[in-house]
Amino acid sequence: MSKTYYITTPIYYPNDVPHIGTAYTTIASDVLARFWRIVYGNVFFLTGTDENAQKIEQAARAKNQAPKEYVDRIVEKFKSVWDMLFISYDDFIRTTEERHIKVVQKTFQYLLDKGDIQKGFYEGWYCVSDETFWLESQLVEKRCPNVECQRPVEWVKEESYFFLLSKYEKPLLEYIESHPKFILPEVRRNETISFIKSGLQDLCVTRKNLKWGVPVPNDPHHVLYVWVDALLNYISAIGYCVNENRFQFLWPADFQLIGKDILRFHAVIWPALLMALKLPLPKTIFAHGWLSIGGEKISKSKGIKKNLIDLINEFGADPLRYFLLREGSFGQDFEFSEEALIRRLNTELANDLGNLLHRVLSMIEKYQGRIVSPPGPNAREDEELIRVSSNLLEQLKKDLEVLDFRQALEDIWQVVSEANKYVDITAPWVLNKSQETERLATVLYNSIESLRIITLAISPFLPQSAKNMWEQLGLKDINELNKIASSDFKWGLFPHGKKIAKGPPLFPKVEEASIT
Ligand code: MSP
Repeated sequence: MSKTYYITTPIYYPNDVPHIGTAYTTIASDVLARFWRIVYGNVFFLTGTDENAQKIEQAARAKNQAPKEYVDRIVEKFKSVWDMLFISYDDFIRTTEERHIKVVQKTFQYLLDKGDIQKGFYEGWYCVSDETFWLESQLVEKRCPNVECQRPVEWVKEESYFFLLSKYEKPLLEYIESHPKFILPEVRRNETISFIKSGLQDLCVTRKNLKWGVPVPNDPHHVLYVWVDALLNYISAIGYCVNENRFQFLWPADFQLIGKDILRFHAVIWPALLMALKLPLPKTIFAHGWLSIGGEKISKSKGIKKNLIDLINEFGADPLRYFLLREGSFGQDFEFSEEALIRRLNTELANDLGNLLHRVLSMIEKYQGRIVSPPGPNAREDEELIRVSSNLLEQLKKDLEVLDFRQALEDIWQVVSEANKYVDITAPWVLNKSQETERLATVLYNSIESLRIITLAISPFLPQSAKNMWEQLGLKDINELNKIASSDFKWGLFPHGKKIAKGPPLFPKVEEASIT
């Protein structure tokens, strides 16, 4: 059996419903999952929620609810928002699930027995909001040094267990330096290298006398530090310690997507834990930039006025997915603005793609009674369209290997623009008038064939619109769009004699003045 691509998102804190920032990582991961499903067939795409954090317990308490009840409700909201955004995850792991807790406890015990976890005494600062231990020297005026947190930290003095992170300083550095694709983009890789070079300290991996969390095996006054618990989701979900065959089949992960805010946990603690467990490291951890407004990171407490569900309802899931991946470069921060979203929706989606579909189908309807006729021989002016369409899949593979979503969309839109140009230059309305039936058939065939390839190419990015296009092209009964493979990208596969099913405009335009 061929390799299964394993793709993960971070697991999100369910202390509130998802927002546009958390949707960003999830949408990007979904596009990858959908694309590699086309190319390789087998993909396992994991997402989930990180539920054993102290701040979850606090959020529940503030609402007078038991933490589990509270998270159960929010997790349902997460799942329904992911459905609204067409997120095609294969599994959704919750860290309060038995399947996860068992693995975490076994792992802890293993590391304890092995001597990589040792009991000691912790005294220092802790930020509950960030769930992070800080050194005195790192604090800024006795507050959390994370600029978007800056909350007061608390002094923690307790008996604790420590993971011997310092032991992995050298092997980790060597690994990162000899594996250029392990941490991407380059700037995050360099940041990680200099952080490790500044020296790694052993990590406190338990908290004492907290009621919410995974209890340490045989020492129930301690619960596991939430980050260690959370990171292990990536292996607990795929059968680590439980189903060795399945685990071996999926691990190591191919792409682990995270935001740059959680780079150190994923680029330092996570690989060190894996080394301690004698497991291979993920192929690539990619830390993307932030969505901001007025230069400030969007978060649960700060950001846009409209919530994610309002944005989906107002603009549609696909335009939102498109905008997020087209607007910014994936590794870098970028501004979220409704004006920019509407501009892209009206021009690139409605004008360029929507109109192309509409024009081509209208002509097939008008000149050929809705039936796609077999083409005659191609002329020189057909060559460029055939060339760019035929190369599209290879181009997309190159782009998405390095998670360059923006370039991938530009490459698809290059074909869209070539197809629009082709219709302008070949002028089927003139061919129809002069009754050049064979040439007209060729031109319309090439136009609709390029639309077929464009539909396949956009399907990972705009799944709903692609489905709609597929139906309008009359291809629904030929092949389901979610079962397509690389071979479907070959030029010339549009079935002759097919009846198209033109529908309403693909992307209704939005008035700019409609922003409320
Ligand atoms: N629970 C931890 C992750 C544990 S993974 C083992 C956590 N959760 S979170 O709910 O705070 O979500 C963090 C992730 O959401 C970020 O890493 C990032 O992927 C995404 N984002 C949250 N706000 C964001 C922006 N404003 N912009 C882009 N991504 C954002 O941290």
